[in-house]
Amino acid sequence: MIGGQVITVMPPQGGRILFEIVAKKQLSNQIWQLDIHAPLVAAKARPGQFVVVRAHDKGERIPLSISDFDSQAGHITLVVQAIGHSTTDLVSLEVGEKAADLLGPLGTPAEIDNFGTVVCVAGGVATAIIYPEARAFQQAGNKVITLLGARSADLFFYEDELRQCSDEVRYATEDGSRGKQGFVTELLQELIDAGEQIDRVVAIGPVPMMRAVCELTRPYQIKTVVSLNPIMVDGTGMCGACRVEVGGETRFCCTDGPEFDGHLVDFAALQNRSRQYQNLEEKIPHHHSNGGCAGQCQQ
Ligand code: FES
Repeated sequence: MIGGQVITVMPPQGGRILFEIVAKKQLSNQIWQLDIHAPLVAAKARPGQFVVVRAHDKGERIPLSISDFDSQAGHITLVVQAIGHSTTDLVSLEVGEKAADLLGPLGTPAEIDNFGTVVCVAGGVATAIIYPEARAFQQAGNKVITLLGARSADLFFYEDELRQCSDEVRYATEDGSRGKQGFVTELLQELIDAGEQIDRVVAIGPVPMMRAVCELTRPYQIKTVVSLNPIMVDGTGMCGACRVEVGGETRFCCTDGPEFDGHLVDFAALQNRSRQYQNLEEKIPHHHSNGGCAGQCQQ
């Protein structure tokens, strides 16, 4: 037990090589889906959790949300946006090759219950993170409305999957190439204005988006959960790099989160801390452009 987390030490498994890439698919321009053989992680994973993975021995530790898991096949699915050195290394692995190591599942699972109507809001690559949660909310008996936002239509993925686990899916694009032209928050405002009884909102995406969703829902007192994405290093509650302010208390995103009540989150502090690291990263050649931030790093 380290930092409140049960760390799974995974022995070699027969048949497949541990952490072998068993399937790989390009979802959009920079976004890849990797299915990785990690049977003990797959057996324990729950929506909202993440892993820390290194592509090779000298690779950076990359926290990545678990987009799906198949305990029978022993595979987990990661959706990776290749936006830096380390994520590019990871998506360069081909089927049959293996990641150097993989740790997880980490983090506190998402709170899944029958709340009534749950609106799942996702921006960009976070679509891959909201998917297992939307599915779990549906299985728990909720009405699920999914709102997806992206810069343009070609950046959407997991559309069939989300349609299957949502009562309704709506789209917003900044360039108007799919659905409403504008931001995903406008879709949420439309739902509220139409009188939809919303019992919970789950928002995952870029910090400004999550912050805007929280400001939108606050006056309506709609419980809003966000998945935070600070810099992470160990992912197990030891280094303190991922600390965030929630309800006036310092919390560790990797062990207490990554999901928190969005109305209690100090988003200004979160954005300030991210900017501090960003300046440092710009001085380091070939550094992963999002540092060791959470795989939600890709949001
Ligand atoms: Fe080190 Fe959370 S990443 S304490």
